[in-house]
Amino acid sequence: MSKQVKITVIGSNMIDLTTFLRRFPQKGETIFGKEFQQGFGGKGSNQAIMASLLGAEVTMVTAVGKDSYGQEWLDHYQEEGIATDFVKVAEDSHSGVAAIWVEPDGDNRIVISSGANDELSVDHIQETFEQLPPQDIILSQLENPQESILEGFKRGKKMGATTILNPAPAEPLLDEILEYTDWLLPNETELAFLAKEMYGLTVEDPIELVKEFATLANINMVVTIGPAGALLYMPNENRPVVRVETVSVKVKDTTGAGDAFCGSFAYGLASGWEPEAAIKLANVLASDSVQKIGTQRAYARDEHLQYLIKQTF
Ligand code: RIB
Repeated sequence: MSKQVKITVIGSNMIDLTTFLRRFPQKGETIFGKEFQQGFGGKGSNQAIMASLLGAEVTMVTAVGKDSYGQEWLDHYQEEGIATDFVKVAEDSHSGVAAIWVEPDGDNRIVISSGANDELSVDHIQETFEQLPPQDIILSQLENPQESILEGFKRGKKMGATTILNPAPAEPLLDEILEYTDWLLPNETELAFLAKEMYGLTVEDPIELVKEFATLANINMVVTIGPAGALLYMPNENRPVVRVETVSVKVKDTTGAGDAFCGSFAYGLASGWEPEAAIKLANVLASDSVQKIGTQRAYARDEHLQYLIKQTF
C-alpha cells in the first residue's frame, strides 16, 4: 500500500439510534418497529473511520458532550486508532444523537440533535491548527458550525493540504467557503439544492448541472448518483464530465454509504491517486456498506477490505 497519508476530519459525532421499520408512521400514529440498533455515527466520524480503516493516519477534530456517550466516543476513536488530541469535551452539552428510520428497501430518514457538535468553535479550530502537523487532506461536512469549517479550511490551505467538503446535510453555504474548498462532494439532491440556492440553476440533467455549477464555482466536483455511480468534473481540465460506474448490489441499509464514499475518496486523493481511481474504490466501499445494516459497523475491514481493494485494481 501507499505511504501513510495524513487526514484531519473536522466533523461530527452522533450516536445513531436506528429503528428498522415495515413502513413509516403517519402523522399522529404509533407503530411497532421491527428491529433496533445503536451504533457510532455522524457524517464526520463515519468518514474518519473509513479513511482510517484504509490506512490513513486520521485526526478527529470534533466536540463530544460531558456524558457517557462522550466517554464512549473517546474510547471508540482510540480503539480505531484515530487521534483524539483535538476532541473537545463540551461541558454544558449532550453528545450528538441521530434518530434513524430505515425502510425495508434500505432507504432512510434521519433527524439529528447536534448537541456538542454545535460547540466546535472557531477558537477550538485555531488552537488545533497551532499544534497540528502538516496534513495531506482536511475533510469536512456540514454537521458543525460553518465558521469553524471555514477557519479549518483556511488554515489547512496555508499548510498545503487539499480541502474536501461534503455539503451534507445541505444548507446555504457561507460566501467564502467554496473559495477555500478544492473538492466538493455532494449527492444529487445536495447538488440540486446548492445549484438553485447559489446560482438559481434548475437544470435537471445531473451531467449538465455538475458542469454548470462547477464552472460557476470554479471547483472540482464529484457527485454521487446512487446505484449509477458518481460523476467527476474538473472545470480547469479540458475533459468532459466522466461517469464512474459502480457495482449493482442487494441493498439492506443505505445509512452511511455516502460517508464511506467520502472517506475512501479522501484516502485515494491523499495517496496521490488519479481522481477516477479514488472514485472507483469509493464506489466499491460504499456499495459494500449498503449490503449490511448500520453505519460504521457496516464498513469493510481487515481481510474483507483487502479483498475488495484487490478486486478493484
Ligand atoms: O450519513 C449518515 C449519518 O448521518 C448517520 O451516521 C447519522 O449520524 C447522520 O449524521
